[in-house]
Amino acid sequence: MTSANLLITGGAGFIGSHVVKLFVKKYAHYQVYNLDKLTYAGNLENLADIEEYPNYHFIKGDIQDFSHLQELFEKYQFQGVIHLAAESHVDRSIQNPTEFINTNILGTVNLLHAARNCWNDQQSHRFYHISTDEVFGSIEEPDLFVETTAYDPQSPYSASKASSDHFVRAFHNTYGLPVIISNCSNNYGPYQFPEKLIPLCINNIKNLLPIPVYGQGLNVRDWLYVEDHALAIDLLYHGGRIGETYNIGGNHQCRNIDLVKTLCQIMDRKLSRSSGESENLIRFVKDRAGHDLRYAIDCSKIREELSWSPSVTLETGLEQTVEWYLNNQTWLDHVTSGHYQNYYQEQYHHR
Ligand code: NAD
Ligand code: DAU
Repeated sequence: MTSANLLITGGAGFIGSHVVKLFVKKYAHYQVYNLDKLTYAGNLENLADIEEYPNYHFIKGDIQDFSHLQELFEKYQFQGVIHLAAESHVDRSIQNPTEFINTNILGTVNLLHAARNCWNDQQSHRFYHISTDEVFGSIEEPDLFVETTAYDPQSPYSASKASSDHFVRAFHNTYGLPVIISNCSNNYGPYQFPEKLIPLCINNIKNLLPIPVYGQGLNVRDWLYVEDHALAIDLLYHGGRIGETYNIGGNHQCRNIDLVKTLCQIMDRKLSRSSGESENLIRFVKDRAGHDLRYAIDCSKIREELSWSPSVTLETGLEQTVEWYLNNQTWLDHVTSGHYQNYYQEQYHHR
């Protein structure tokens, strides 16, 4: 096997850190370069177990900085890119969309430009863009998103991701850039920043804080354990067809209120609380603006082409996730010590 330089963006974030760890451990012949700005969501502690590996390299940088990207592409001659860097939280995008435009759209276009400038022999390369099922908007029962479902983004976050997807396809159609896109459903698992529903609930239940459920909690999301997503990314990076889009999902649709109640039950058991104690913390709060009612994914394309399907059930994944957060209080203390506290308090008091 020949050695190759691989650029992973956003590798200090939640999903990115799982992808970096998988690639560094599994592919010793790849030199993995993790480019990350280290925003509030990026944390090098997520990568502690591979930081000493000789094929792992961290570069602090911002995908909004085109000249830095150009330098990196010239210096390292990346064979491939797996692009995860993004602003990822819907509520933040509603509060302030600008950074979502700058990173998710302009940053992605910068990366596409840098790759195009550097890759003369396009066919030996690949640019893999990680996207979301939120670009499709909401879908009614019993339908599922397929790869050809029309885009209908509702939030500034999903509009920015939809725009970046279009630019990735445009660079393929216009310049022949060898791209792959995947659109994935809601991930959960260790190292997720506790602004997202599952880790927020775990953290609040543990600290006997209110659990804010938006609206009536009837919105449906399809949940995928993050390590299953990382495995799908590995398969698609190596075996996905150029120019194609693939849906990835957990086959685990669940209403928010049911998910929250399940978490309450797991937490009661693990913390030896009396049954129902955690559920008393649930508060129905003002709904998220433009809140999509239902996401549901058909991932038969990746199953049929690459034999991928989720291996972790929601039941097992939630148990493992709760266990991880309960055993990693130091990590939680670190990520919630700065920006997070202010953000959470501000958000909650506005409702
Ligand atoms: P995250 O917020 O946990 O991590 C994002 C990472 O990107 C952080 O490390 C951050 O420091 C970095 N980053 C942000 N702006 C940057 C910039 N300008 N330059 C360089 N680095 C920057 O996000 P996540 O949940 O791990 O999501 C990763 C990707 O997967 C995103 O593209 C997201 O849209 C997509 N996605 C997420 C989910 C999900 O459920 N979390 C589902 C489908 C798709
Ligand atoms: O579908 C994929 C997307 O999933 C990713 O592209 C996003 O990056 C990721 O953040 C996630 O988006 P959601 O908005 O679905 O995730 P979040 O965890 O913020 O919310 C999940 C559901 O729970 C959603 O219906 C809103 C609701 N919610 C969320 C929070 C934070 C609450 O009811 N209360 C809360 O406090």
